[in-house]
Amino acid sequence: MRPKGQQITNLKMLLFGVFLAFFVLFVLRSGMPSSQESPSPTSQPGVLNPKKEARETNCSQACTQIPRSLTQALVHYTTSTITPQQTRKEISVSAKVLEKKSPCNFLVFGLGHDSLMWSALNYGGRTVFLEEDEAWIAQIKRRFPMLESHHVTYDSKVNEAANLMEVGKGPECTAVGDPKFSMCQLAMKGLPSEVYEIEWDLIMVDAPTGYHDEAPGRMTAIFTAGMMARNRKEGETDVFVHDVNREVEDKFSKSFLCEGYMKKQVGRLRHFTIPSHRDDLDRPFCPE
Ligand SMILES: C[S@@+](CC[C@H](N)C(=O)[O-])C[C@H]1O[C@@H](n2cnc3c(N)ncnc32)[C@H](O)[C@@H]1O
Repeated sequence: MRPKGQQITNLKMLLFGVFLAFFVLFVLRSGMPSSQESPSPTSQPGVLNPKKEARETNCSQACTQIPRSLTQALVHYTTSTITPQQTRKEISVSAKVLEKKSPCNFLVFGLGHDSLMWSALNYGGRTVFLEEDEAWIAQIKRRFPMLESHHVTYDSKVNEAANLMEVGKGPECTAVGDPKFSMCQLAMKGLPSEVYEIEWDLIMVDAPTGYHDEAPGRMTAIFTAGMMARNRKEGETDVFVHDVNREVEDKFSKSFLCEGYMKKQVGRLRHFTIPSHRDDLDRPFCPE
């Protein structure tokens, strides 16, 4: 039998050993990244890691900071002397719809001084601009590289509008289908594939130019917007047409987006809400 003093010493040594083991383990763990915190390419000193920052700051800074693209839009419109062509009242019509639907898919015919605004109002969504003027696209891209735009060509002119109005009444034009494969002369077929694949929640027709006889005119853009809306799998599409004071925009929007689908007109802007026609192919082209 060991003396009592020796036993007490051994017990003390054991307790100290256990304490030391826990201490070493603790020091090692706190110096190592956890599995959820595995180093990412941005987790270097001086480089922001938004997720880590949000956790460390308890979300107070990272979550409330204004996104960079919105800052750019704010600074641009505050310092620019050029304002968009649509009036405040006209802009408010689509802005109200975006308030409800954003972030969503927003297709805009025309690249202009309002583009950065549409993109900012649909923050977090997909806003795509279709533009006929390549030089204008290049100019806008230099200033606002974050905007997504595609070049498109129009193969008709304002002076062909009367003939195209008749063409649009044919069965190949009133049928529900993908404009990409449509036999209708008014359906735009040369758009980027993605534009046909995406289900657009909002479509704004504010281009191409249409203020003289030789200009491309908005006949095909208005018609294609209506066809895309009817061909949506389900739900509705909000379609806006600007410059309805002009004959082409007035007649083509009434005929192909339908007076029965018109929600309102404010100034030179008309708003239509077009339901999907896919679930009921017997539905008339325009509501009766
Ligand atoms: C009626 S404008 C649409 C303008 C737009 N709502 C705005 O507020 O700027 C339609 C077309 O005009 C042309 N456009 C507009 N602004 C332009 C500019 N500053 N320089 C060249 N072309 C321009 C583009 O081809 C555009 O698609």
